[in-house]
Amino acid sequence: MKTKLTTRVSEAAKAILAGNLVAFPTETVYGLGANAFDERAVKKIFVAKGRPADNPLIVHIWSKKQIAEIASEVSPVAKKLVYKCFPGQLTVVVKKNARIPNIVTAGLPTVCIRMPSLPIACAFLKQCGVPVAAPSANLSSKPSPTTWQHVLHDMDGRIPLILKGPKCEHGLESTVIDCTKKIPVLLRPGAVTVEELEEVVGRINIPIAIKKALSPGMKYRHYSPNGKVHLMKRGAKIPFNCAFIGFSNPKTAYKIKVKTAAEYAKKLYWFFRECDLRGIENIYAEIPEKKGVGRALLNRLEKAMAR
Ligand code: TXA
Ligand code: MG
Repeated sequence: MKTKLTTRVSEAAKAILAGNLVAFPTETVYGLGANAFDERAVKKIFVAKGRPADNPLIVHIWSKKQIAEIASEVSPVAKKLVYKCFPGQLTVVVKKNARIPNIVTAGLPTVCIRMPSLPIACAFLKQCGVPVAAPSANLSSKPSPTTWQHVLHDMDGRIPLILKGPKCEHGLESTVIDCTKKIPVLLRPGAVTVEELEEVVGRINIPIAIKKALSPGMKYRHYSPNGKVHLMKRGAKIPFNCAFIGFSNPKTAYKIKVKTAAEYAKKLYWFFRECDLRGIENIYAEIPEKKGVGRALLNRLEKAMAR
């Protein structure tokens, strides 16, 4: 299969409605989309990514009105979060309705819904008209793509079309929160911080071992470069013959120095992929503070370390 690149939203939407896959940009990471109502189209996502069938997908919308086409019940907590945080980098888990095929939710009675804010993503989803099921557009276990070039690297020959957009502003995936419980549960820390969520809904439950977490996808090896990832304290000494990302400025062959946790998040996956291209075997990442976006960063770094 030849993979085509386009900047035309109408061409991308047409492909979705014809039952094909399209990779598209969002402000978090690039997604690999299919018509969420079309079981055969959604199946292609799992094949293209090599994704285990028990890992459910996020359904993307451009208008809050579409939630009624996807969910059978929207709890008061979910309503509050949708009102305050959609469009944006938040994904809510609600009860699914019968129109959403089981393959989208891996058989779960619940479904993940997200409304991205990136204008080209909104325009694409609007032209599709149908909700679009999409995981991140990387090969399974690789870091999520934050540029269309990353998508092409992983998916060339495996999907028919990539909608080209800008480099992703956030660079880490959305925050996933289960709103089917009385007190919402954080399933995946992400671009929207716990502090921001608590401002909207009061208390939220954060499982102690978010590593073992409840979101089915979190049990798989994830976000990993080929090299070995080591976590290190700020300012610690590291070997010269390796790569580094963090706030300090060690003497080493390849490094990315960042000023803020947001910049760290934005550049992390890009850095991992760059390390792979350079064949770097040992990758040192400075431990961020476990607050704000640092929580999501730490989560991804710990997963990237796991072998
Ligand atoms: O920022 C993002 O969220 C990106 C862009 C493309 O929107 N998408 C993304 O999708 O990161 P993916 O498939 O890589 O991650 C979705 C996560 C997985 O951990 C999956 O297990 C979880 O959401 N998930 C999906 N449906 C679920 C459900 N019904 N209950 C619990 N977790 C669910
Ligand atoms: Mg993913």
